[in-house]
Amino acid sequence: DTDQKHGNEEPLDQLISTLPRDERWTSLCNYRGFWLLVPWLPGTLSMRRRLVTRPDDVYIAAFPKTGTTWLKALVYSLLHRHRHSPTGPSHPLRTASPQELVQCLEDVFSVDPDPDLGALPSPRIWSLHTPYSSLPASLHVSPCKMVYIVRDPKDVFVSLLHFVDAVDSSARTVSMNEAFEMFCSGVCPYGPIWEHALEYWNESLRRPGKVLFLHYEEMTRDPVGNLRRLAVFLGRPFSEDEEREGVAREISELCSFQSLTGLAVNNQGELKMVERIPFPRNSYFRRGEVGDWKRHLSTEMAERLDMITDEKLRGSGLNL
Ligand code: A3P
Repeated sequence: DTDQKHGNEEPLDQLISTLPRDERWTSLCNYRGFWLLVPWLPGTLSMRRRLVTRPDDVYIAAFPKTGTTWLKALVYSLLHRHRHSPTGPSHPLRTASPQELVQCLEDVFSVDPDPDLGALPSPRIWSLHTPYSSLPASLHVSPCKMVYIVRDPKDVFVSLLHFVDAVDSSARTVSMNEAFEMFCSGVCPYGPIWEHALEYWNESLRRPGKVLFLHYEEMTRDPVGNLRRLAVFLGRPFSEDEEREGVAREISELCSFQSLTGLAVNNQGELKMVERIPFPRNSYFRRGEVGDWKRHLSTEMAERLDMITDEKLRGSGLNL
């Protein structure tokens, strides 16, 4: 762990220059077995060195395009429901993107390698894409809560392809078929997807009170039921009064694809993300459907990806 040695830290630039690169789909760099995004790499490494956790922190962890934005909106609304009624006209989600209310830690540390996060009120809610094995040691030992969301890799691939094109149409130098091959062999942002999920999955089996697994498809089928699970896991179950008043349903409705995409803050203008590059606000919302892969992948492609998923997850107890 050359980058974690105390007192004798290797300069980040030097470390990064030694890592394998792949620029075909988007700018990627292999760090400890996973393909991380080059623009976020310095931030990721600074986060590894400097993140100070709190026991009541909540971390939303995910492979990109699995439903992080949705989960951000849900966790934020859930934990702040006593201060901000989900039906209130001034709820923060009506004027800020879920990306602004729950920031991505790799991005936070990219903007400032030593940010002052200690003054933020509890509970702090963050998101991250870093693989479990590369998280800061402080996060491995912290009793904080982590929620990991998974989604059918076929839909993730289609969503990723569109997202990369939406944020930087000139980045991709490969065809869709070539990008598919890269995804299958794990060469995509934070790939391979299976190993990424399995690391968190194994930790959720070891420490079920620390890591909760949610499935995008299940959340679509039963949003309120999954929101209740989330509330219990985060130690903030809905009270009988809240259940009578329909608070869970209100939060679920506020955070629905239809509701969020109807807000100007999510469909107009840009967000400054990675390296302050403007990301269209609507790039985080496309179709929000289960099975959209059917419109983009051939039967052969779908079967191939399913086969890889079956092989990779066999015996793990995880189904995607
Ligand atoms: P699609 O591209 O399939 O539409 P992430 O937030 O992890 O980047 O994932 C983005 C995916 O989640 C996109 O999928 C996006 O449309 C979908 N999504 C965003 N908000 C959602 C919501 N409130 N409900 C359901 N899906 C949502």
